Amino acid sequence: MIYSKITGTGSYLPEKVLTNKDLEKLVDTSDKWIQERTGIKERHVAAEGETTCDLALHASRRAIEMSGISNADIDMVILATTTADKIFPGTACLLQKKLDVHGCPAFDVQAVCTGFVYALSIADKFIRAGETQCALVVGSETLSRILDWNDRSTCVLFGDGAGAVVLEAAAEPGIMSTHLHADGSYEHLLHVPHGISIGYEQLKAGEAYVYMEGNAVFKMAVNTLGQIVDEALEANRIGKSDIDWLVPHQANSRIIEATARKLKMSLERVVVTVAQHGNTSAASIPLALDVAVRDGRIKKGQTLMLEAFGSGFTWGSALLKF
Ligand code: UT7
Repeated sequence: MIYSKITGTGSYLPEKVLTNKDLEKLVDTSDKWIQERTGIKERHVAAEGETTCDLALHASRRAIEMSGISNADIDMVILATTTADKIFPGTACLLQKKLDVHGCPAFDVQAVCTGFVYALSIADKFIRAGETQCALVVGSETLSRILDWNDRSTCVLFGDGAGAVVLEAAAEPGIMSTHLHADGSYEHLLHVPHGISIGYEQLKAGEAYVYMEGNAVFKMAVNTLGQIVDEALEANRIGKSDIDWLVPHQANSRIIEATARKLKMSLERVVVTVAQHGNTSAASIPLALDVAVRDGRIKKGQTLMLEAFGSGFTWGSALLKF
C-alpha cells in the first residue's frame, strides 16, 4: 500500500498588522466586541502589490526547506485560494514558475475556507494511486482585497496569509482519511455576489465584496463541524481520546471551542491562531499547523484532526498521523 505523509510545513504572514484598535478608526466597532464575538485581536494585511502567489511562495519555500526535498522533486502543485492573482492562469501555475518547477500538473482549488482540506485530499488520492510522489499543497489568500472596509460585519473578521505542506509517498500513513462535502443551496449566506462571468461593470461598481449572514453561518458551522468529527472518527474506528491535536479552520474562537467540546478536548490540545491571524480562509489550517509544528507542540507520530467549514457551503476533515 502507498500512503501520503506530510514531510514539511511552512507559512507566511505579510508584515503589516492591523489591530482591532486600528479598525475602530475605520468603522463603528470596538476591540471589546471583536474579541468577545470572534477571539480576533489582530490580522495581517498584504502590502500594495503583494499578491496571493507572493505569500504562497514564501510559505512553500519554508515547507520545502523543512522537508529536505529539492524543487525538482515536486511533481504536483495544488493551490487552494479564493483570491487568485489572475483570472487565468491559475495561481498554482504562477507559483510553479516562481519555484522553477516545470511539466507537472499545477492547478487551483476553489472551495473557499475548506480549500486546503480539499487540496490535501486530492493530493493524497494522486499519491495513493501511484501517480504522484511529492505534492506541494498550499493555501494562500489576500482576503483584504475583497473586503468592504466600510462593512463592520465582515471587515473585522478576515486576514491575509499563506500556509503550505509537502506531501510525499510513504509506506505508512500519513493521511488516514479525508472527508469532503458541499451543499451549494446555502450559497446566499456567505458569498461574494459577483464574479468575472457577470462582467467587469459589476466588479467596477464595487459589488464584489464578501457578504455574510454571520449568525446563520455560525449555527451551521457549529452543527456541521460536530458531525464531521464523528464521521472521521467512525471511518477510522478510533475514539476521541486518540486525537492528539485538533487543527481547525480559524474563523471564530467560539466555533473552535464548540468543536473542541464535542471532541471532549481541552483547549490545550487545540491549535488556535485566530487571535493573531483572523480568518485567512484557505490559508488558515496550514498556517495554524505550521505554527504548532515550529513551536514544538505538534510532534512526529501524533494524530491530528484537521477540519473546516466555509462558503458553498463546503466542509471537510482530514485525519492524519504527522
Ligand atoms: O470562515 C467561513 C465561515 N465563517 C464563519 O464561520 C463565521 C461565522 N459567524 C461568526 O463568526 C459570527 O456570526 C460573527 C462574528 C460574524 C457575528 O457574531 P454574532 O454573535 O453572530 O453577532 P450578530 O451577527 O448576531 O450581530 C450582533 C450585533 C448586531 O447588532 P444588533 O442588530 O444586535 O443591534 C450587529 O449589527 O452586533 C453588531 N455587529 C457589530 N458590532 C460591533 C456586527 N458586527 C459588528 C462589529 N462591531 N464589527
